[in-house]
Order: sequence, then structure tokens, then C-alpha cells
Amino acid sequence: MQFGHFDDANREYVITQPDTPLPWINYLGCQAYFGLISNTAGGYSFYRDARLRRISRYRYNNVPFDFGGRYLYIRDNQSSEFWSPSWQPTRNQVEKYSCRHGMGYSIIGSEYKGIEARTRYFVPLDENLEIWQLTVTNHRKTAASLSIFSSIEFCLWDAQDDSTNFQRNFSIGQVEIEDGVIYHKTEYRERRDHFAYFACSAKLAGYDTQRDSFVGPYRSWDKPVVVERGESANSVAHGWAPIGSHHVKLDLKPGESQQIIFVLGYHENPVAEKFDPPDSQIVNKKTVKPVIAKYLKAANADAAFDRLRAYWDELLSICQVETPDVHTNRMVNIWNAYQCMATFNMSRSASFYESGIGRGLGFRDSNQDLLGFVHMVPSRARERIVDLASTQLPTGGAYHQYQPLTKRGNNDVGGNFNDDPHWLIIGVSAYIKETGDWSILDEPVPYDNQPGSETPLYEHLQRSFQYTLDRLGPHGLPLIGRADWNDCLNLNCFSDTPGQSFQTTTNKEGKVAESIFIAGLFVLAGQELAAIADHRCHKDEAKRYLVEVKKMDETIHKYGWDGEWFLRAYDDFGKKVGSNECEEGKIFIEPQGFCVLAGVGLEDGLAKKALDSTRKHLATKHGIVLQQPAYSRYYLHLGEISSYPPGYKENAGIFCHNNPWVMIAEAKVGNGDNAHDYYSRINPSAREAISDLHRCEPYVYSQMIAGKDAPTHGEAKNSWLTGTAAWNYYAIVQQILGIQTSLDGLQIAPVIPTSWKGFKATRKYRGVTYKIEIERLGKGNNIALTVDGKKVDGNTVPIPANGTKEITVRGTLT
Ligand code: GLC
Ligand code: GLC
Repeated sequence: MQFGHFDDANREYVITQPDTPLPWINYLGCQAYFGLISNTAGGYSFYRDARLRRISRYRYNNVPFDFGGRYLYIRDNQSSEFWSPSWQPTRNQVEKYSCRHGMGYSIIGSEYKGIEARTRYFVPLDENLEIWQLTVTNHRKTAASLSIFSSIEFCLWDAQDDSTNFQRNFSIGQVEIEDGVIYHKTEYRERRDHFAYFACSAKLAGYDTQRDSFVGPYRSWDKPVVVERGESANSVAHGWAPIGSHHVKLDLKPGESQQIIFVLGYHENPVAEKFDPPDSQIVNKKTVKPVIAKYLKAANADAAFDRLRAYWDELLSICQVETPDVHTNRMVNIWNAYQCMATFNMSRSASFYESGIGRGLGFRDSNQDLLGFVHMVPSRARERIVDLASTQLPTGGAYHQYQPLTKRGNNDVGGNFNDDPHWLIIGVSAYIKETGDWSILDEPVPYDNQPGSETPLYEHLQRSFQYTLDRLGPHGLPLIGRADWNDCLNLNCFSDTPGQSFQTTTNKEGKVAESIFIAGLFVLAGQELAAIADHRCHKDEAKRYLVEVKKMDETIHKYGWDGEWFLRAYDDFGKKVGSNECEEGKIFIEPQGFCVLAGVGLEDGLAKKALDSTRKHLATKHGIVLQQPAYSRYYLHLGEISSYPPGYKENAGIFCHNNPWVMIAEAKVGNGDNAHDYYSRINPSAREAISDLHRCEPYVYSQMIAGKDAPTHGEAKNSWLTGTAAWNYYAIVQQILGIQTSLDGLQIAPVIPTSWKGFKATRKYRGVTYKIEIERLGKGNNIALTVDGKKVDGNTVPIPANGTKEITVRGTLT
């Protein structure tokens, strides 16, 4: 069953039924001002940091699930009836409902008793505000006399505090109303130099800023007393809950349309110029007024929207493909790339499943996110790399997370996730492969943000590598620390205290438990680092890295192979995890995917064996589960992984993030059929027809799909913010379609399904447009290339001569 459809030409998903199984959301803004918006206009906005600069209020885990948003009400002043064109919160039986989620905007609306109303929500580029462009049309045969009410509930900035510290919060709310603009200025009188505002383009019949006056006692947003009455209370908030609501009267002749624009924004003033007059307590509005005036004009709002569209046209044009599979095309060309922007911006902080108050930017997560983002805005990728590396510790270790507002490592969570440092190597390598910008390695970058501690970034990578060599366990495999990629495999935790954090508690010294996953990651990162060293003419150093890589490869062969697949780990007692000898958790996906993609066992058949075992024991029609058999009870020595009921999350859920590792591994062994088959199983577009089961958005990846041990097998959860976005993008574009960035230029090495006759692609790379056409002549993966008609050896396209704008690359597969 579907709840809408893709409109690929417009790059939109069109939801045609408001009561989707879960809220289906979109992101507004992609620079500093951000909003989340659901298909019924739920959601909230913030500036840079979803916890510390929350602009509007949202109530997570509510009933209904999605509550709090950018709600509009329309009241028919003849009948006194009122409704919301976005369906929520009044939930009237509206007609012609649709929500078009596009690239950085959403258009939501419907028709009710002949009155059509649609709102286009978006954030203009380079501005800290959002625009709601409401168009109301009278399709009746008679004139309509309407009242429009807007509403937004302001958050008192720190979202955590806002939802807990009521004894203070109920007394601090402050607003100003000037020329019909509502200014939210809670705490501006003291240490804040920022405020929010909510403006309207039309002449106001009234306004409200106190929630209780608007909603009325013992009522909710579905039936605000002011809307019912048809008249604002002109309330001025003092304490309690400041809101913004405008009332506009609208008379429409038959067939007539009118537009009203609302602008919600964030503004900062220099500390010395906070007030106007200077000795008053009145917000200085000198610099904000022109901004507001500008976007209340329809022509300016339209121009800003066109600019946003053009921006996304440009970003997406960098990589476009035309394959025989519509789901591949749609995800690569539109939605997967778009989701990579969201994960780059949000890391794992603000979605409808991440509350925006918990996590900062993950060191591991954000480095991996670069894999799917770096080609779009390399300069921002570079900045992110430097920010991440600046939080690295002198030991080469890393804080697990950092706070985006302060860019400092998060002390509460700390470090000792022993995989973390290697992801920096992967991220930097991806950046250089894309851009050819080697200068990043010379950039002076501090440790733990300490001024004076700077070394060239290159040394950070060296220390990352060394970090593991300094922490090898009894078998010569990397010690796991608090956890590796799998945050929930906590082999040194031994927690028997309810509520204790599995991520920050370490009850064992950690000198025994080892991770084969980190071993695989080490092999990959070591090769990347060696290649970088080699290019910089540090030949001896490169050799030394490759010696360590070879040693680790041998150690994996010796102590990390279980007979039919790669082991997962050794626990604190030196016992195997992820072995046939185990009662539960005999085989895990992570080492199968990662060891093979790093190249371990490619030559001696272990890789193939591991992948066969993966197919046999872990593959389901909804994707590949994390391990089998699921843990049926809590194991003190394994930690959080066994805290989940079987089939969910890390306990045998289909943790989508690691599925692409197996796709890449299949590509490495030359099996394009398997690779693309796995790709299709979790591709959300390919799952659109089972939206009633899948339940999450069909246009973006979710972190997890319930595994076969769960009663809800096939149901997705935690959409949007997941490493799945970047890894799937990387798997399909670089490994299956084989359009690979390398230190030497673009390589073409497709491992596509045998049934495909070929495909076309356009890739803009280092200033040149590559027009790529691949034709399949035989069943294999051997490629022969011509560039502008001339045959080239191997699969690397030579860097085109200076000034070249476009080249044509043809490849035949035999
Ligand atoms: C979450 C975390 C990620 C981790 C994964 C597996 O997605 O954000 O860092 O690797 O879970 O535990
Ligand atoms: C929880 C989640 C896991 C996530 C971790 C990060 O353990 O299950 O997916 O990576 O939290 O803190």
C-alpha cells in the first residue's frame, strides 16, 4: 500500500493521504537555520544547535505522535466553521490534500468546502529565517469571508531546559509587538543577544502571544478558543508560554486567490547594540527590519525560492545516472544525495527519532557522512574535517562526539571507542580523492582544541593509525575499548545497574577484549594512509604502514577466522563472540562486510566463503540482519546489544548502515547481481509499495528495519539520520556503478548486475564534466575504456588537460 508517489521530474515526493503510518518529514534549511517539517506541518526550527538555540517548541513522543508545528487555521466567518489546511491539528475531512516534499521545501495544502489553501515552507539560502507562503483560493460560486490564524509556540531556547525547568520557565517569557511583528525575546534582557520574530505580510485584525489566551483553558491546538470565536485576544505574554499568532481577515470573490506571507526568523545583535534606545530594555530592530520587510514581499520570496531550486539543481547535477532500475536512478539522482546533506548537517542530532537534545556530532558518524557529501560542497567537508580533527586527543584517540555550537569535544561522553580515530583517515582520504586538494594535509590543527598544540593534519592521521598499534590485545588484534562501530557491543562494561549508560561505563580495564571489526577497519585505513604517504613521497613510511596492514591481515586469518566466516570479537574472558561455538550471536554482519571490503581473504577464498555464510544465515527479503541467532536474554559481558528484544536495533535488527558494506564486499568479489540485489532490498523507493509495513518515509533510508526475530519484521524505524545514507550512496555510485574517485583521478570499475545492458552517467569532477557510457558485451566485469574516442589502459581516466570542460568516457564490459 502507498500513501503517495514520487514526482521525479520535480524532485518531489507527493503524499496524498495525511494519515501516513508515521509522520513523513522533510528538512528546511541547509546552512545555519534549520527546520523539520512533517507532512501535516508538524515540527520545529532551530539555529545551528537543536538543543541550545531551539526557536520553536515541539513535543516529542506525543499523542498523536506528531504534535507542535507551523499550524494555520482558516475560519469561515459565515458558518463559524474552522479547519487546518495541513489537516493537523484540527483533522477535518479535507479534500485534495497533498504534501509535496522537495529539496529544502515542502508544500502542504488541501481544499475544504470550496476553499483551497496551500502553504510553501522554505528557508532562503544565506538567511536565518523561514518563509510560509500561503495561497488561499475561493472555488465557491459565492464570495467568502474568511479569517486566517497563524500559530507558532516559541521554545525558550535551550530545548532541554525548556521541557524540564518549569519553576523558572513559567516566569521568564517575554515578547514585544511592533508594527504587527511579534518578537520573542525571552532572556534577551540578560545574557542573550539573539531573539526570534514572527511577521505577517497582511494587515492584522489582531494577534496573540500568550498560549493560554489563544488556546483557552482545558483545550488543545485542535480547537483554540480564539479561532473558534473568530477574534484574537491581543494577548501580551508575561511568563508562561509565549506564542506567535496573527489574525488576518480575508474576503475572496468567487475564483479569487490571495497570498499571505509569514516569516519566522532568528536574529542576533552586537552585544553593545542590543537595545534601542541604548538605556532601554527594548530590542534594537534596526538591522532586522529590512530583512523582514524584504521577505514579506511576494516577489522577493519567489526569487529566494527560485534561488533555492537552482542551488539544488546545481548540487544534484554533480552526479546523475541513468540505469535500467528506476529506484537506483531516483535514489542516486535525488533522494539519497539529499539525505546525505541532512546527515552532514544534523549528524544524529535532530530528527523525529533524535530529539535534538541528546547527541552532538559524532566523530565516527560525521567522518563517514563525508563519503556521501564531499562531492557536493567540498569546502564544507574540509571545514568539517578540520573541526573534527581539532577535537582529536594527543594520543590519537577521539572524543566520541562534539557540540556543534562550541566545536568542543563532549566530556560527558568522553572517548575510548577504539574505532573512532580511523574514520578520520577514511574521511580525509575521501576528501582528497574528490578534490585533489592535498593542502589539507598541511593545515595546522590542534589537539583537544588546545591553542599551541597544532600539528599538520597529516600528523593527526599518523596518530590515528598509531592509536591502534598502541592498543593491541592478546591475539594481536585491536582492543575494542568501550565499543567499536557497534556502539552496543560493550565488552568492558559489565553493567548490572539499571539506567547506567552502556556508552560511558567501563567496569573492566579493557586489556583483553578485541575487535575483528576494528582489525578490518585498520586494514582499510592503513592502505588509505599508505597511499597518501606514497603520494607525498614518504616511501618508507608507506612501506611501514603496509607491513602493519599485512601483519593485521595475517592476524585476522589466524585468529579472526571461524571456519565459515569472520569472528566478531573476543570478550573480556578471551572467549569468542560471533563464532559457531557460541550459543547465540554465532555470526555477525560487520566483520564479513568490512574485512572483505578492506580486501581480507580476497585471494584465498575466505572472502567468498564469508559472503556465502552471510547470505545463508543473515539475509532476509527486507535486508541483512546484524547477527544470528538473536540474543534471547541479557548478557552481562556483551552489554547493550543484548538489552534489545530480538530483531530490533543491534540485536539482530536489519541495521541498514552495515548492509552497504556487504554490497561493496560483493562488488569486490565481482558479484554485481548479489550487490544490487542487497541494494534493492533496503532501497526505500523499492519498498514504497509496502509502505504500510515499512511505515517510514519511502524516500529516505532508515537506521533500522525490524529483523526476522521481531514480530514486526520489515518495519522501519529511525528514518533520516543514519550512516546508511552516505554508505549506500558510496556503495551504489562508487562500487556498483563503479564511478570511483581516487588519488589519481576518476576510475571506472563497474560491478553491475549481469542482466543490465549498461548505463549512463554524468559526473562533474575537479572542474570537468565526465559523460560516461557503459555497455555490457559479456557477463564479466572486465572494462575497456576509451576517452573521447581514444583507448586508454587500465580503468583510470587520465586527468584531462587544463581548460578541458567535458570529456566522454565509454566503457565496455566483457
Ligand atoms: C548508531 C550510531 C553509530 C553506530 C551505530 C551502530 O547509528 O550513530 O555511530 O555506529 O549506531 O551502533
Ligand atoms: C544507542 C543506540 C545506538 C546508538 C547509541 C549512541 O546505544 O542503540 O544505535 O549508536 O545509542 O549513543
